[in-house]
Amino acid sequence: MLKAVFPGTFDPITVGHLDVLRRALKIFDRITIAIFENIQKKPLFPLEDRLAFISKSTQVFRTKVSVETFEGLLSEYCKKNQIRFVIKGLRALSDYEYETKMALINREINPDLETIFLVSPPEMATISSSVVRELLYFNGDISRYVPEKALQPIIAAYKKLQSGKLRNNN
Ligand code: PNS
Repeated sequence: MLKAVFPGTFDPITVGHLDVLRRALKIFDRITIAIFENIQKKPLFPLEDRLAFISKSTQVFRTKVSVETFEGLLSEYCKKNQIRFVIKGLRALSDYEYETKMALINREINPDLETIFLVSPPEMATISSSVVRELLYFNGDISRYVPEKALQPIIAAYKKLQSGKLRNNN
């Protein structure tokens, strides 16, 4: 059985992530979506919210897809779980530069690890978690950027974060 990990911060999951997952399921039998920390980024949504958004969005694939969180290195996670393949999506040249560097570092730490890049279609080029966060901030419409099942949960979680912030400022 061929298994892979699809790592990321998923802050929050987008239709771009879902597209990568769908493509990866044509190759792999089992995929674990693993939420990791990216020390370059301070996440907006708490870990449990991000996990819930992914679970809701991937319910249709539940026999093949699982979701978990991991604190530490991706290469260590793969070693521990006997996973040899990492899936990453590429939207643009800028993704390529960053992702190939990460893939090489991961392989230096764990020589058994191969990163598989799946190229996103042009219509996904503008879709990213950061765009979703910015639209939320300015009260924009996020419906074409996030999976349908995660739309209301994301909006509700964002409102909760905002009301918490207001309470703390008063
Ligand atoms: O969605 P992102 O932010 O592009 O995902 C990046 C992520 C979380 C996959 C990456 O930062 C990562 O692998 N973090 C875990 C720590 C690690 O293994 N870093 C690479 C070696 S320095």
